[in-house]
Amino acid sequence: MLSFGLLTLHTNNEKTYFMEIAKRAHLLDIECFRFIPSNIIPNSEKVHGDKFNPLTNEWMPSEFPIPKILYDRCFYGEDTHSKQCKAIVKWLKTRNDLLFLGHGLPNKLDLYNALANSKLSPYLLPSKLVTSGESIVHRLIPHKPVMIKPISGSQGRGIYYLEKKNNEIIVKTDKQKKSITRTFPYEDKAIAWINYLIKDRSYLVQEYKELTNENNQPFDIRVLLQKDEYGNWHVITKGIRTGKQDGIVSNVSAGGTISPFETWIESFSVSEKEYLVQEMSDILDSMPIILEQNFPPLFELGIDLGVSKDHSIWILDINSKPGRKVALTINPFLEEKLYTAPLLYGKTLVK
Ligand SMILES: Nc1ncnc2c1ncn2[C@@H]1O[C@H](COP(=O)(O)OP(=O)(O)OP(=O)(O)O)[C@@H](O)[C@H]1O
Ligand SMILES: [Mg+2]
Repeated sequence: MLSFGLLTLHTNNEKTYFMEIAKRAHLLDIECFRFIPSNIIPNSEKVHGDKFNPLTNEWMPSEFPIPKILYDRCFYGEDTHSKQCKAIVKWLKTRNDLLFLGHGLPNKLDLYNALANSKLSPYLLPSKLVTSGESIVHRLIPHKPVMIKPISGSQGRGIYYLEKKNNEIIVKTDKQKKSITRTFPYEDKAIAWINYLIKDRSYLVQEYKELTNENNQPFDIRVLLQKDEYGNWHVITKGIRTGKQDGIVSNVSAGGTISPFETWIESFSVSEKEYLVQEMSDILDSMPIILEQNFPPLFELGIDLGVSKDHSIWILDINSKPGRKVALTINPFLEEKLYTAPLLYGKTLVK
């Protein structure tokens, strides 16, 4: 039987997803395990984790050899535990006897730098590392707001909009329940605040684009792409995520709502629709190919696309560990497909 290992940083992460995958594994002749990378015992190279029991549908604590196929669903931050697990996973990836479903992607800035030379560059917002509060504030021009965001994933958290207005600096951010606006009457106060922010976290800066709907709510298109059992990429779903009125992010974890792509696209004229659909499919067809030319192989992708009032499309974010919330909200019938896809692709990898 093939052994399939599900990896997270904490046992409570991805509970439902892992359970649903595990329940379907047995029928495909696969044994499922879940573990935290730091629970590999160094000398024996065995793992302390849980083994799935298909008779009771329960995870049972056990000790087992490192599974052959690994599905890394760890969301690494900049804390010690993340760093430790990341190093262990990096070592696992060097082993020829193990197979990773996907190899993940670098941070937003490295990703931008790699794609800036590809044919996707017209769709990217030029991004730079925030090196100091001074470099941001001294370059702010009225009517040209910027966004600063952590270079490693944040589910809409820690993202700030900055604008210069009447010599004041306005900062906006979205929390789960409300949007918060803060005004710095003097530049040096804003500079000090940014310097504090970047002290232990890296941020990038890019132009703020008005990617909002007619109610001034930020929105984006969240696309889920996955490989099928033959290794071919497919667009699984496109959904619209809409944030709060006058807010700055559309993330669901920041209070955004989910609606079908089809309803949104129907609001355009025939020619506008044709243009948008064509542009989007050009981007989505070439994206996985370009990424796999630049980085190790992937299994799935979550891509956030923004659309400006002039209908230009912007690639906002590319995630190699996408969630399934948007996909399952707009199409609950996808459950079976989404929960078996990692297993089927895993079997293909072994072949
Ligand atoms: N330059 C920008 N201009 C306007 N809106 C933006 C810009 N960048 C981001 N946004 C809004 O903020 C949202 C979150 O940004 P982004 O996807 O880059 O970070 P994130 O979701 O926190 O990261 P991750 O998905 O890796 O957790 C976008 O979906 C979009 O709604
Ligand atoms: Mg995002």
